[in-house]
Amino acid sequence: MLTSEEPTLQKVKTTSSPSKTLKVAIDGPAGAGKSTVAKLIADQLGFLYIDTGAMYRAVTWLVVQNEISTNDEAAIIELVRTAKILLKPGDKTSHQLARVFVNGKEITKQIRTQEITKLVSPLSAIPAVRAYLVEQQRNMARQGAVVLDGRDIGTVVLPDAEIKIFLTASAEVRAQRRFRELKTLGDESVDFDTLLKDIVERDERDTNRAIAPLRMADDAVLILTDNMKIDEVVSHIIALCT
Ligand code: DC
Repeated sequence: MLTSEEPTLQKVKTTSSPSKTLKVAIDGPAGAGKSTVAKLIADQLGFLYIDTGAMYRAVTWLVVQNEISTNDEAAIIELVRTAKILLKPGDKTSHQLARVFVNGKEITKQIRTQEITKLVSPLSAIPAVRAYLVEQQRNMARQGAVVLDGRDIGTVVLPDAEIKIFLTASAEVRAQRRFRELKTLGDESVDFDTLLKDIVERDERDTNRAIAPLRMADDAVLILTDNMKIDEVVSHIIALCT
């Protein structure tokens, strides 16, 4: 387990540039700080960042918009097959979160609501939805040096990724982070205890689903972020990449 005092990585850090095709896979449970860390790493190394959770959220938003029941797998699959999901780099308008477009409409804010957050987990357990999105993620990853974050990147999407990270933190710390994130996004109705309960439930579902469950790859580096600052996590991972 990594602590902020761990000195070894500073010693092995070199000044060499990372390869132009390096793949960095960052997995972990909800609220571990994956997207913040992944974006900073991608920015610093000049890599493309792909927020795969945002893609599952986009599909979920589309299902809700089309008033399709989350049990109606055939209708969901049809909808997903025809959806055009586009990710753009985050900016000030999106509080640095990836900007997400579906069929030409920007839905960056809409996919972060508690309603979508609740529905995305069961929806992402549908095998055909995963198959379709995983294929898109692999195609995006072929574009060059990339950082992908999600639940199954190191195990399923990019099992050959050179750098695999499993980023995690206690459920309480993760709930606090989500609480602050939602407040920043302007959600005043957010309640900490509900968030904590939702995170525990989502962990449970993401970890125990039959297909591509949340699991640390055998060759991943575990980083427990409870007592770490974001820049410590980022420099730790960058040291592994260079
Ligand atoms: O990282 P996030 O909270 O935005 O992810 C939203 C949901 O999508 C999460 O409950 C699990 C699912 N997900 C997944 O199953 N596989 C991924 N690669 C990314 C996310």
